[in-house]
Amino acid sequence: MSRSEIRQSAEPVTDWATDFDHARSEYNENAPEIWAQLRTECPIAHTDRYGGAWLPVRHADVSQIAYDTEHFTSEDVVVKWVRPESSRPIGGAPPITSDPPFHREARRLILPAFSPEKVAALEPEIRQFCRQLIENIGNVDVVDAADQYAKHIPAAVIAQMLDLPVEDGDKFRDFVHTALESISEDQEVRQLGFQKLDEYLDLRITERSQNLGEDLLSFLLQAKIYDRQLSPEHVRGTVALLLIAGIDTTWSAIGASLLHLATHPKDLARLVAEPELIPTAIEEFLRAYAPVTMARVVAKDVEIGGCPMKQGDWVLLPFPAANRDPQVFENADEVIIDREVNRHAAFGLGIHRCIGSNLARLVMRVAIEEFIAKFPEFAVADSTQVTWSVGQVRGPRRLPVRVIRRA
Ligand code: HEM
Repeated sequence: MSRSEIRQSAEPVTDWATDFDHARSEYNENAPEIWAQLRTECPIAHTDRYGGAWLPVRHADVSQIAYDTEHFTSEDVVVKWVRPESSRPIGGAPPITSDPPFHREARRLILPAFSPEKVAALEPEIRQFCRQLIENIGNVDVVDAADQYAKHIPAAVIAQMLDLPVEDGDKFRDFVHTALESISEDQEVRQLGFQKLDEYLDLRITERSQNLGEDLLSFLLQAKIYDRQLSPEHVRGTVALLLIAGIDTTWSAIGASLLHLATHPKDLARLVAEPELIPTAIEEFLRAYAPVTMARVVAKDVEIGGCPMKQGDWVLLPFPAANRDPQVFENADEVIIDREVNRHAAFGLGIHRCIGSNLARLVMRVAIEEFIAKFPEFAVADSTQVTWSVGQVRGPRRLPVRVIRRA
């Protein structure tokens, strides 16, 4: 597709049911309202953009597609204008881009690194990092809770797991931008971004293979599938996945939780008074503000909810919309921080369910605990300055809050 076609396809949306574009800023800014409207008017929306894509918003349809690995492939999970040659069943970033049966092997390999015990051991360092960040913000009245706080934490955590330099955080976030947010930007610039990511990872992989340690990258360099060492592309793809899947997602989830607290003083006061409620509140923040929508490609023609999905079509899986389905959740659009039953789909459904969920929950808990311990009262300073990400990961990117600090 030529650049002018891309620009044309980036025309404003006039009808979300027949011409949606999830990469336009108004989608993430108004997503819950758009899903609510679609749910009653057209629960599986379609667009001709991106060469043809579907957007189911009901929990039942999202779930059916997520579990159906026969008709839907994960070979590409980020919708883009031009789809590269098929790379089934491994894909460019295993296991998220892998299909069965290879997927099971690629997933099994990295699961132990994210076990509850391994993850719990990271808590002291994460807490120390959050405290230091708050300390560095200094004695100001207005803090950008997304840009000065949330965005830094997940990058530091994953850098530590892979033993990559924490100072490379900005680079990692550039890679995330390239992979997830830049689908409607200049495609040559995007390609250059991927090239930089590959070069960065190749360099780190070469260095590490000459000096193996106890970290996750060293583990991958020595790991085997089907009795064979992983290919360099597999190692690079998995490391890229961990960087990308681990950063934008958790940053968005922390930011959205803090935005909720900055606009709901009663909930903030309750969490300050009853910190033991924080894990339950986090599940509700994950449900109501779930950040991650992944995609599938139709592998074989199939009909879902009366819609004829053709081989090669994109299908977005908006887990965040499924989490707001009133058929599944009572008062789905209300945020109830002590909601008792909460089987949300924020971490996905089916074989690709998030491997990093223990880690994400820990990072969210520590980040929120430390923020509200230091700032027991805070509120959005200027709502016109709050901005949202664009694309398949949804969360606040600017979030200035006026804070009252605890001595
Ligand atoms: C709040 C934070 C997070 C959310 C909401 C989230 C959400 C998700 C979702 C919805 C999927 C399913 C993708 C699909 O069906 O195609 C997924 C998969 C995955 N996530 Fe996360 N994630 C988060 C944090 C993390 C972290 C911190 C890591 C690791 C550093 C991680 C690693 C992965 C991996 C490796 C997969 C692929 C699993 C597979 O294909 O079997 N995630 N995540």
